[in-house]
Amino acid sequence: MANSVTGRDLLDRLWQRGCAFFGTRTAIMGGAMSWVSERHLVAAISNAGGFGVIACGAMPPHLLEAEIAGTKALTNQPFGVNLITMHPQLEQLVDICVAAKVGHVVLAGGLPPKWAIERIKASGAKVICFTPALSLAKKFVRSGVDALVIEGMEAGGHIGPVSTAVLAQEILPEVREVPVFVAGGIGRGEAIAMYLELGASGVQLGTRFVCATESIAHPKFKQAFIRASARDAMPSVQLDPRFPVIPVRALQNQGTRRFMETQAEIVARFNRGEVEKDAAILEIEHFWAGALRRAVIDGDVENGSLMAGQSVGMVTREQPTAEIIEELVNQAAAALTSRLALNAVPTPQPLRA
Ligand SMILES: Cc1cc2nc3c(=O)[nH]c(=O)nc-3n(C[C@H](O)[C@H](O)[C@H](O)COP(=O)(O)O)c2cc1C
Repeated sequence: MANSVTGRDLLDRLWQRGCAFFGTRTAIMGGAMSWVSERHLVAAISNAGGFGVIACGAMPPHLLEAEIAGTKALTNQPFGVNLITMHPQLEQLVDICVAAKVGHVVLAGGLPPKWAIERIKASGAKVICFTPALSLAKKFVRSGVDALVIEGMEAGGHIGPVSTAVLAQEILPEVREVPVFVAGGIGRGEAIAMYLELGASGVQLGTRFVCATESIAHPKFKQAFIRASARDAMPSVQLDPRFPVIPVRALQNQGTRRFMETQAEIVARFNRGEVEKDAAILEIEHFWAGALRRAVIDGDVENGSLMAGQSVGMVTREQPTAEIIEELVNQAAAALTSRLALNAVPTPQPLRA
């Protein structure tokens, strides 16, 4: 008996909620990556049917305004903006998103302030937050957050301690009120199908898009990604328990070794009473902001930060964004097609005597 439902139909059904949430053809978010996720990559992802997200990072408000306008000039498809909540000018950044009628704002990098959630929602835009645990997910839902991203420790950049697979099992079955998007370690469409089947509304990928043709990342940065395998993307190490370091997953180089030395220097200055604790913590955090730009923009792959997720091993060449998304969609659809085929296997008939 022929099964008229295809894997692609099933995929469209599984991520229907995510697609409706973004107004896109696929529920693949391009995870915001500081310095990488600017107008060209963001527009390319949105034009290819995904959901591009501008990484505001440490940008001052006038640059964010220009980036939003520049992205609008390259796409008429929906895209979002990712704001880091500890940015000192968060309020102006939120106002710029509201004034530019950005449809979706992702609040990353710590607990989002209540006023920010309220101001974005009052403008009619959707608020998306990262949640590291189920308890916080429930709290975000209560405070009116429209969607959640759960990001496991396989991801590139700043990471939490729990793997994507465990977060997905803990949170997806329990949070039905809002769409939940899964991030961290996704390199192929089969994994997308798996998380959708677990209850995700979509996924967010960062590392996989770094080597997109449209990505402005320096050729040496892309080359480092293409050469690397999963085990090269390691979390940074905290030197002193008094100075917590949110681990950053990056390819190992002189920069990661220098981070250890920098921590040691800052801790020594603190011990000598030359720097306040809060200032010392900020200084340690600040190290990576400058270092990422050096690697992504200047191509200093030795001293800069090569933030990358474990899925870097699945980045094998430079490819147009549309091709990456098409490949992911085809892999997810093929995985679901084979599930349908398995289900369609006729039940064995009892042998006649
Ligand atoms: C180079 C790089 C820079 C990143 N910068 C940011 C950022 O500025 N803000 C943010 O919320 N996430 C940032 N991320 C995380 C991504 O948005 C995304 O969640 C992550 O890359 C997903 O995991 P994956 O790399 O395994 O696909 C960054 C990731 C990378 C690789």
